[in-house]
Amino acid sequence: FTGIFAYLNYRVPRTRKEIFETLIKGLQRLEYRGYDSAGVAIDGNNNEDKERYIRLIKKRGKVKALDEELYKQDGMDLKADFETHFGIAHTRWATHGVPNAVNSHPQRSDKRNEFVVIHNGIITNYKDLRKFLETKGYEFESETDTETIPKLVKYMYDNRETEDISFSALVERVIQQLEGAFALVFKSIHYPGEAVATRRGSPLLIGVRSKYKLSTEQIPILYRTCNAIIEHTNRVIFLEDDDIVAVADGKLSLHRLKRSASDDPSRAIQTLQMELQQIMKGNFSAFMQKEIFEQPESVVNTMRGRVNFETKTVLLGGLKDHLKEIRRCRRLIIIGCGTSYHAAIATRQVLEELTELPVMVELASDFLDRNTPVFRDDVCFFISQSGETADTLMALRYCKDRGALTVGITNTVGSSISRETDCGVHINAGPEIGVASTKAYTSQFISLVMFGLMMSEDRISLQNRRQEIISGLQMLPEMIKEVLSLDEKIHDLALELYKQRSLLVMGRGYNYATCLEGALKIKEITYMHSEGILAGELKHGPLALIDKHMPVIMVIMKDPCFTKCQNALQQVIARQGRPIILSSREDTESSKFAYKTIELPHTVDCLQGVLSVVPLQLLSFHLAVLRGYDVSVFCILVLQLEKHACELSPINLERNS
Ligand code: UD1
Ligand code: F6R
Repeated sequence: FTGIFAYLNYRVPRTRKEIFETLIKGLQRLEYRGYDSAGVAIDGNNNEDKERYIRLIKKRGKVKALDEELYKQDGMDLKADFETHFGIAHTRWATHGVPNAVNSHPQRSDKRNEFVVIHNGIITNYKDLRKFLETKGYEFESETDTETIPKLVKYMYDNRETEDISFSALVERVIQQLEGAFALVFKSIHYPGEAVATRRGSPLLIGVRSKYKLSTEQIPILYRTCNAIIEHTNRVIFLEDDDIVAVADGKLSLHRLKRSASDDPSRAIQTLQMELQQIMKGNFSAFMQKEIFEQPESVVNTMRGRVNFETKTVLLGGLKDHLKEIRRCRRLIIIGCGTSYHAAIATRQVLEELTELPVMVELASDFLDRNTPVFRDDVCFFISQSGETADTLMALRYCKDRGALTVGITNTVGSSISRETDCGVHINAGPEIGVASTKAYTSQFISLVMFGLMMSEDRISLQNRRQEIISGLQMLPEMIKEVLSLDEKIHDLALELYKQRSLLVMGRGYNYATCLEGALKIKEITYMHSEGILAGELKHGPLALIDKHMPVIMVIMKDPCFTKCQNALQQVIARQGRPIILSSREDTESSKFAYKTIELPHTVDCLQGVLSVVPLQLLSFHLAVLRGYDVSVFCILVLQLEKHACELSPINLERNS
């Protein structure tokens, strides 16, 4: 369960000391989750005082340190009685920003603490929200993603159209703007004695205790146990995604989020939505371009809180409890469609090396067509950006029926694949809106590599290799930036190529997936024929296509396949081919034979594919624009389609249909 705990007493008098004790006890029950700081928000005044204010007490370190801190506060009457009071408490494990009091929760809207929030999860679009709020004059004090939430509630409150807007209505507006995963609890001076809580992707439950019979018609109450709550009550409510629970005047109500934001007439939301769209796209002409350029950041988000570069260790929270079982399996099957399938191809070799297990990589549709035998001791991975792709989802259900352990690698928290798998990894690349998948690919790639690293932790013979890969991961963001700085050069290349009818992309080994993925991008958004060819297969047919007119891109990196790639290069030259070579900066050979060279920074062989795919993403984007396909308009059209599809049927249209 989460590191958040909140306690509301309604017409049940409690002293401040009792409230402190309840909150601290609640946090202590959650302590095993691991954390580095803790905090609470309580009413600062006494019940009879006119002026209301909220007191925040936050402390780096253990709950015990926070507990001691509570009793050191000035002007806090411990005996003060509260007939009604709402207190919230949190333990934090630093992901955004160092562990200190300012970064720990509750986070607040402003210096007056008008709204305070505790959060478990991750807000992936917090940078855009922060930028928006900053333009509206809201000042940020922490480095957290969470701080955008209380500020956003205050924004909704400050721009409310009627005086009597309810606390839950404000929260409903706020969560429509949030991307990512969250369990949230809100407290406000404007709504004394009221509580609002909601969740998406992260678990949250409500415990109810009353001397009187509850009126439970609208609220499904389940009887289960949870350590932090069980000592208070055994009546708990498990929240569903996007449920909003509000307690006002001692009445608990449960709301569902409205389907679309456009139902909401409020001006505040409209300006926010319009400006956010602008901020989100920034200076880029299309979301796809923006997302390509986001990769130095999105890969950091994928590794955040998971790879410890100092101790050279990797911990995927979503898999740690299943690791034993995975280690015992007899093979790994990795299943996906399109780009997600390519991420599996890209990492297959390093997974075989690090897990020492046989690894099958499957296209979901073909896997189903074949009625592939699957057994209880198989572990099946499902790779999907959206988490909704029909073939992948069906393959998941197929494997589940056969008793295999199912693992999701998904970008969308709360998606069908994320929910239906036994366990998994959220790649945390942030929302991918562009028509073609780009940053999700590199984040899927890295997630699979992290899985391999975690599996090989106790393999003594693999320690050097693991260290090398982890150091490589650390340098990736900078290296991706270097590759992105080649954009102009790639644009020039696109100018030469855009009138061609076909483009071949060749390579092998760790970079074969780059060829498949590059060719898919080119087909998908430029409508030009393109094919990814395994260089080892050249002499078995494809060589016939090569002549001085056929544009060929060859991916040749300084890795174990280097010599073999040189052979392929010679074969292409022998047929008067004019290869454009994506080469490693350390390679002085290949460029002698190249029509053009694009030099990339060199990294560990098994991570090179993260870098080598980027020029092809850029190339496909420029080709599309030059060929007159408006990538940005196309994107909006697809979004509308998708929305429609969601409302018409539970089966999601795939993004590019
Ligand atoms: C979690 C938090 C993250 C926080 C981190 C550190 C959530 C969703 N994630 O991340 O915000 O920064 O702890 O405290 O609250 N899962 C599946 N199938 C999938 C993907 C995930 O079953 O396809 C499951 C996982 O097994 C896990 C849960 O969903 O139980 C969350 O996964 P993930 O977000 O990857 O976990 P953490 O990295 O621990
Ligand atoms: C290519 C692309 C598609 C998707 C495929 C799977 O740019 O976007 O090939 O990769 O439809 O989608 P997800 O990953 O959402 O399952």
